Amino acid sequence: MSRPIKQIHLAAHFPGVNNTTVWSDPAAGSHIEFGSFVHFARTAERGKFDFLFLAEGLRLREQNGLIHDLDVVGRPDTFTVLAALAAVTDRLGLAGTINSTFNEPYEVARQFASLDHLSGGRAAWNVVTSWDAFTGENFRRGGFLPEEQRYARARTFLRTAWELFGSWRGDEIIADRETGVFLRDPHPGRFTHRDAHFDIAGQFNVPRSPQGRPVIFQAGDSDEGREFAASGADAIFSRHGTLEAGQAFYADVKRRLARYGRARDQLLILPAATFVLGDTDAEAAEIAYEVRRQQVSGQTAIQFLEQLWNRDLSGHNPDGPLPAVDPDPGEHTVARGRASVRMFGDRLATANQWRQLAEAKNLSTRELIIEITGRQTFIGSPATVASAINDLVQADASDGFILVPHITPGGLDGFVDTVVPLLQERGVFRTEYEGITLRDHLGLAPLVPAVSGTSDASGASPAGPGPAARAVS
Ligand SMILES: Cc1cc2nc3c(=O)[nH]c(=O)nc-3n(C[C@H](O)[C@H](O)[C@H](O)COP(=O)(O)O)c2cc1C
Repeated sequence: MSRPIKQIHLAAHFPGVNNTTVWSDPAAGSHIEFGSFVHFARTAERGKFDFLFLAEGLRLREQNGLIHDLDVVGRPDTFTVLAALAAVTDRLGLAGTINSTFNEPYEVARQFASLDHLSGGRAAWNVVTSWDAFTGENFRRGGFLPEEQRYARARTFLRTAWELFGSWRGDEIIADRETGVFLRDPHPGRFTHRDAHFDIAGQFNVPRSPQGRPVIFQAGDSDEGREFAASGADAIFSRHGTLEAGQAFYADVKRRLARYGRARDQLLILPAATFVLGDTDAEAAEIAYEVRRQQVSGQTAIQFLEQLWNRDLSGHNPDGPLPAVDPDPGEHTVARGRASVRMFGDRLATANQWRQLAEAKNLSTRELIIEITGRQTFIGSPATVASAINDLVQADASDGFILVPHITPGGLDGFVDTVVPLLQERGVFRTEYEGITLRDHLGLAPLVPAVSGTSDASGASPAGPGPAARAVS
């Protein structure tokens, strides 16, 4: 029996929290003014995208004690932006990245339940677990959370939030004018939650929202992060956008679902992807080369180099070879607030790999950084890009992509105007929204309130019993 053709899911990541956003391009606009968000959201909705996605950094990154101004810094608050966008869009899902280390479940649950109400069921929460003490300095509790506890807290945070979302069944408000009775149940929203991280009790004060709870995304890549996603998330925002890496990640995470009694289609895999379009493949390749040079100026190359070398290299010539001196193996002091820093692992070993690559390909420092930080997933004519996206989805390397344009806010326009129609012609992408809520767009079954004392029939539970709802099959 031949496999049914998969429908592609597309989302739009608002650019602006790293150097891949080309703010210096004449076409680039503000990443702070509301008009930019409106343009971007409306373009995504015109393209019938599943959702708009906001990443979030809770502290401005620093390098050598200064704000790292080669990143685009200073994005306004996630909930405020998404709530405002709810008013200027009708169908587009609205996904916000909110950290489980530095926030409180009651507050976050209130905010997401409110966003789900205001948007008519379009809210999604990307649960991230960044824990670093540098970011923690902004918060009352500081950087108290050791790295190895980040998912223990995330699991109980999410479970607590689900208890709050589920504390209203949805039928409590009757507002009967004749009898003057407003609430059927005089005590809706009651909850008590006690564990090592949270000790809270009371009444949740936002009635059940259209989706029951926001759609849950997860973005961590460690084994524990994957397990967390398999246990309770609806979708993963992954780094693995190529065929081989994508298929390996996809198979690995989907395999984990059975452990939690969940089916393969209850967790979508959506890698981040960038794109460069041209009238022809050759033209796109030329533009892509220029974009890479815009993204990695000589100055940016030095900053990347310093992150690995853990030294001040401000005097280094970016157009010359890599530094002869070895990286400083001591505690990392140069760049702060950047998760990628810890991904370098053994700094000397990585530096030696970079040296070998630079020598083999005869690359200057800047050319090498351009090569190793290259993140251009799709390059080509609209037809080439449409085929590449469809091939990856049909080959189970993903269920779709979260597209990250390099220009704010117009970087999505060309994709929506030229690639989306080709995907629609092939019958692999919707021509109209068929449902109302984000769960509808993602093909996830609606949730119904759990009867008290039962567990979630979807099997989706971040850490044991007490979920808000079960999926209707
Ligand atoms: C594709 C991707 C996007 C992420 N986006 C954010 C973000 O916007 N904000 C944030 O604080 N962390 C972000 N993270 C960090 C992770 O959510 C997670 O907190 C961190 O990687 C530690 O978990 P891990 O060890 O499982 O990877 C992202 C991670 C990935 C893989």
